[in-house]
Amino acid sequence: MNNFSGTDGWIPGNSLEMSYKTAQIRLVSSHPEVYEPCDDSFALVDALLSDQKHLLEHKPILCMEVGCGSGYVITSLMLMLGGEANGAQFIATDMNPHAITVTRETMEAHGVHAELINTDIASGLESRLAGSVDLLVVNPPYVPTPEDEVGREGIASAWAGGENGRSVIDKILPVADKLLSERGWLYMVTLTANNPSQICRQMTKKGYASRIVVQRSTEEESLHIIKFWRDVNIEVDANNGVTNSKTGILDSVRSQIQRLSFWGSSDINTSTD
Ligand SMILES: C[S@@+](CC[C@H](N)C(=O)[O-])C[C@H]1O[C@@H](n2cnc3c(N)ncnc32)[C@H](O)[C@@H]1O
Repeated sequence: MNNFSGTDGWIPGNSLEMSYKTAQIRLVSSHPEVYEPCDDSFALVDALLSDQKHLLEHKPILCMEVGCGSGYVITSLMLMLGGEANGAQFIATDMNPHAITVTRETMEAHGVHAELINTDIASGLESRLAGSVDLLVVNPPYVPTPEDEVGREGIASAWAGGENGRSVIDKILPVADKLLSERGWLYMVTLTANNPSQICRQMTKKGYASRIVVQRSTEEESLHIIKFWRDVNIEVDANNGVTNSKTGILDSVRSQIQRLSFWGSSDINTSTD
């Protein structure tokens, strides 16, 4: 989770909110207890950018971020999709109340607006949003830490992921499954230590296909941005076993992860669709 600069996308002659493809670092607000945009945030935004054409064609109506931090990702997403002017609605949550304030300031600086909710994952929103989120983006706390560091007050809750960095991820996935619409897409940041192939296997059992959109290795960590979507070709039996995957997508993600781990330090977009 170390720093480097984000994407600058100034397009002369447009109004502020349409001038940039992504949020501008200099306009992103900050607070000592709020996670600043880092490699993982930039990799997630790059994944969304690389899929921007598909996202615009997909026309998501309800878009959501869980764990918005500084607001860099949700603001970038809004700029990419043309904001509420395109008929979409945006919601972001964070358990850190300072993150909600900072996200609001970041959005205001970019001339965009979303519903911001201070809550644990999507607690209190499940019945309202069940089956209606078309696009969910998550950069969760994924760093392996002692379990008692997870969910503590303050900045540590931005990265503390418990055993294998999976504690918060494993809580988010079933919530994502409840919230996502039939055409819902989920983009999530994972680390090699989180065992992304196992996460994909778990999601396949719920009927989701997956692919790595961006893989990025730094000196400190190897990140995978994985996209999940419901696939009618995946048949799941009553015992939660995958009886058929006509498209062979699971095998393709497994081999992608093996290949990328082998290649090590590269920035690869494995986009295939
Ligand atoms: C790695 S930071 C990502 C921040 C921002 N999305 C980005 O990419 O720069 C993780 C964020 O998730 C929030 N978070 C951690 N656990 C959460 C939970 N259980 N529910 C909601 N937000 C949570 C943290 O407060 C933090 O803002």
